[in-house]
Amino acid sequence: MVNEAKQLDTLLKENRVFHPDPAFTKQANFNDPDIYERAAKDPEGYWAEQAKHITWFKPYDKVLEWNPPHAKWFLGGKLNAAYNCVDRHRQGPRKNKAAIIWESENGDSKVFTYEMLGREVDKAAHMLKNLGVKKGDRVAVYLPMVPELPIALLACAKIGAIHTVVFAGFSSKALRDRIDDSDAKLLITADAGWRRGSQVPLKAYADEALEGSSVEKVLVVRIVGEASGAKMVAGRDLYWHEEIEKASKEPFPAEEMDAEDILYLLYTSGTTGKPKGIVHTTGGYMVGVNTSLRSVFDLKEEDIFWCTADIGWVTGHTYLVYGPLSAGATVVIYEGAPDYPERDRFWKIVEKYGVTIFYTAPTLIRTFMKWGPSYIEKHDLSSLRLLATVGEPINPEAWMWFHKYVGREKTPIVDTWWQTETGCAMIAPLPGLTPTKPGSATKPLPGILVDVVDDDGRTVENGGGNLVIKHPWPSMLRTIWGDDERFRNTYFGKFPEWYLPGDAAHRDEDGYIWILGRIDDVINVSGHRIGTMEVESALVSHPSVAEAAVIGRSDDVKGQAITAFVILKEGNEPSAAMTAELKETVVEQIGKLARPEEIIYTAELPKTRSGKIMRRLLRDIAEGRVLGDTTTLTDPPVIEELKRLYQDKED
Ligand code: WTA
Repeated sequence: MVNEAKQLDTLLKENRVFHPDPAFTKQANFNDPDIYERAAKDPEGYWAEQAKHITWFKPYDKVLEWNPPHAKWFLGGKLNAAYNCVDRHRQGPRKNKAAIIWESENGDSKVFTYEMLGREVDKAAHMLKNLGVKKGDRVAVYLPMVPELPIALLACAKIGAIHTVVFAGFSSKALRDRIDDSDAKLLITADAGWRRGSQVPLKAYADEALEGSSVEKVLVVRIVGEASGAKMVAGRDLYWHEEIEKASKEPFPAEEMDAEDILYLLYTSGTTGKPKGIVHTTGGYMVGVNTSLRSVFDLKEEDIFWCTADIGWVTGHTYLVYGPLSAGATVVIYEGAPDYPERDRFWKIVEKYGVTIFYTAPTLIRTFMKWGPSYIEKHDLSSLRLLATVGEPINPEAWMWFHKYVGREKTPIVDTWWQTETGCAMIAPLPGLTPTKPGSATKPLPGILVDVVDDDGRTVENGGGNLVIKHPWPSMLRTIWGDDERFRNTYFGKFPEWYLPGDAAHRDEDGYIWILGRIDDVINVSGHRIGTMEVESALVSHPSVAEAAVIGRSDDVKGQAITAFVILKEGNEPSAAMTAELKETVVEQIGKLARPEEIIYTAELPKTRSGKIMRRLLRDIAEGRVLGDTTTLTDPPVIEELKRLYQDKED
């Protein structure tokens, strides 16, 4: 853990503390300091209190049933997520409030009030029913950030279908894997998407993925039109705009879902090559995400909430769709890139809509730092009252920069630690109560019982260890789709009654948690989780590759960058063309997000006597550090050779 030791060293020198402004505390939703203790004493009571913010068609009989590793929350309760996000707001003073403000990359914008959104969701729900989609069916969604994306999700929720969104940056192969694993019968995609003014041929990717798959029908959102060249397959493909025209305009009665019925699957990377379909259910998830909007984000009626994540990731599911909409917020959804057409696009959007809560990723903050503050200074950001980050540890410099230039040294910053599996923020400050330290996600939220323990499960009061969550929480994953065994082993294999997130953490003398990064073979590139094995399998699928080892080395902007060490099969020579081809293979198999930054050719890889690749050593080499312990290595000279190759590459 040399990597972590280095990071920790920097973090522990950090001793700045920022106390909540009393004026902020006074108006905060959560401003009673006793809340932590009350919730810790009686988590079920706390969550039952929060569950009152959700509309239940039928009240639940029991808050929690915990048979480790399986939890059930709000047993017997009936509800509908889309009803909670849309319909209930249509019946009161929020009826004509903006629910979604959508801005396209080219600057067009559309506003959907709750009433308008409700009508669209109802039409889409009718359309899905007309296409034969039933409760419990899986619907794969492969769309860019257009309004049809949240509408599709809410329509699935309304009829009780299980959506599984595949980020539009993933390749055909990745889409196909997710369709196969979830056994989806409908795919919703687009003719093409826009990215920095160029087309992304989503339909062509989808066509490739669909050959021989379980998908019976494809709904195609027309974004680009003729110029996309998208081909429609007769009998299978239908245009969204044509089908929705045919749908009834009558209100669609929300399907009564059991609290434990599945709301969605979302695939995420693990330590094997195969992504995991994380299962989220309806009741607990809705209670969890809704609570976090009120607690961590201090959401108020008049806020304009902007989360810059893509709906293809969990952050977008929770903080662009289910969380803010369930809380009746106005959400900004931006389709495009932060530097299109100029590097001030984000600040333009903040100014234009008067964004009050801004939620983004450290990697973007570091990019803004690189670009310099002039792009920010051109705009009036005085509407901002709360800033938030997610996805990876934020380094104190980035935190301070965010605080100074975006927050104008006034707004609280909430660093939120959580995962696809946890459903919503778990470790984060309550902005009216918790003093913040740059680089620390601070303390677990009320009702969340976090600990730092050593490998034997002993609490580490002041020091580093495994992060664990010792009590179930409502929005936790219920299992891995089709693989409960993997669910058990991955998250409860080490400690049978505690959830193991797979992150290392340090707890300081004030009880503050500093997340240090993953303890497994998962890397985090620009806040995106990528399994090293996924990239390795992509590389070895190339006919010239005999073996590959992939690691994440530290990168100033992306957090981590992918370095691949590759052994070529005999008769193949390393060359620039080979490197380009191998990188392209990874893009084809997974997507651009997994493209290796560099490829190092080697004749051998350092392995333990039992044949395991020593990734730690490879990381040390890639980061130019003195080598760690090599006593278990079979062939120590391999290291020297690799080090030499890596240095040659840098010269
Ligand atoms: C990392 C994204 C430090 C962590 C919501 C976790 C973080 C993984 C933070 C989950 C944070 C997320 N500080 N690390 N504030 N937030 N992580 O599933 O390693 O895409 O396990 O969920 O990102 O990534 P995922």
